[in-house]
Amino acid sequence: MNRAPLIFLGAFLVLAFSWAGLVLTNQVGYGSLAPHFDDTENKAYPAQMAGPAAQGAAVYQDLGCAYCHTQQVRGGAQGADLTRLPKWGERDSYARDYLRDTRVQLGDLRVGPDLRNVGARDTDSTALYLHLYDPAHANPAWTMPSYNFLFEQRPITGEPSPLALKVPVAAGFEVLPTPRAVALVAYLLSLKDTYDYPDESQMNTPPAPPKTAAPAKGGPPVGATSVKSPASAATDAAKPAAAKP
Ligand code: HEC
Repeated sequence: MNRAPLIFLGAFLVLAFSWAGLVLTNQVGYGSLAPHFDDTENKAYPAQMAGPAAQGAAVYQDLGCAYCHTQQVRGGAQGADLTRLPKWGERDSYARDYLRDTRVQLGDLRVGPDLRNVGARDTDSTALYLHLYDPAHANPAWTMPSYNFLFEQRPITGEPSPLALKVPVAAGFEVLPTPRAVALVAYLLSLKDTYDYPDESQMNTPPAPPKTAAPAKGGPPVGATSVKSPASAATDAAKPAAAKP
């Protein structure tokens, strides 16, 4: 009976440590991450998602694309994404890349290619529409399911629409993307993490070789950059020479 306080304390400590490990450390590490303002381009990164792309993100989530596609590029010691052909990106994905995503679609299985930079490699919307309508159009061995329900067949009235897909269809009809398909393709085209954050590169690639300019003595350990206030991070980025000892 008199062991009750001990059991309670034990349970409390287990929960407190799990919470600190899972929630607190991440909050301290990433909670203060802010978009980076690039003075030369007069623009913040990551950029705000345009309206149709944001709608497309909801379609992507709704249709479960994340069951087969990840959105996380892993290079260096974590994976071969930067060396495979075609490359899945020019650099690793950083936590900051996802700041504007209302729901982060990291995914867990890679049945298909990583899509975090699909907008950088597939720049042609027509090809993306075709891929969604009939993934096997270019290669019959491709296994992605068809999303042809995102398209509709309509009788041609007057001039054929410039958006009509070049697919076999009954005479006098055309296949057009529905607003959901248009939004989804806008979202896919918007997926490109190509911006190089000046203060980010050391943070997510631990095995990177030391930089040529040595950091100030007693400088922050790897990973500590994230707890900087956005203002100080921006100042550091603006004046890299000031770090000279
Ligand atoms: C059942 C698994 C599966 C699902 C679900 C799926 N895909 Fe795919 N996807 C694939 C595979 C596999 C490939 C590679 C080509 C192939 O085999 O069809 C692919 C390829 C792609 C490509 C071409 C990628 C490149 O590198 O050029 C795009 C774009 C794409 N998928 C988008 C989507 C979108 C958007 C959705 C949701 C509407 C989706 N996929 C759902 C399996 C899937």
